Amino acid sequence: MEQKSLPYEKIVFVCTNQRAPGERVCCAGQGSIDLHAKLKELVKARGLRTRIRVSKSGCMDRCEFGPNIMVFPDNVWYSAVTEADLEAIVEKLAG
Ligand code: FES
Repeated sequence: MEQKSLPYEKIVFVCTNQRAPGERVCCAGQGSIDLHAKLKELVKARGLRTRIRVSKSGCMDRCEFGPNIMVFPDNVWYSAVTEADLEAIVEKLAG
């Protein structure tokens, strides 16, 4: 095993967990897969890709409040995110 420093200033976790119909609500069912893709595009378009990594995550157990996005190491949590929020999120990430 090798231990290294984080290769990014920030890692953004977008929950893309998907459940079957009739199961507990999930972030994917609330649009998070598209949000993840659009957030990646915005980060790339702003030239932030070397600083900020946008990753998918599994369930973070806040399903009813989704779509959920967590920013590490900022200790920031976004819930009920919509596409209209993404520009503002990227703005804060870039800050
Ligand atoms: S499915 Fe996203 S927090 Fe549970």
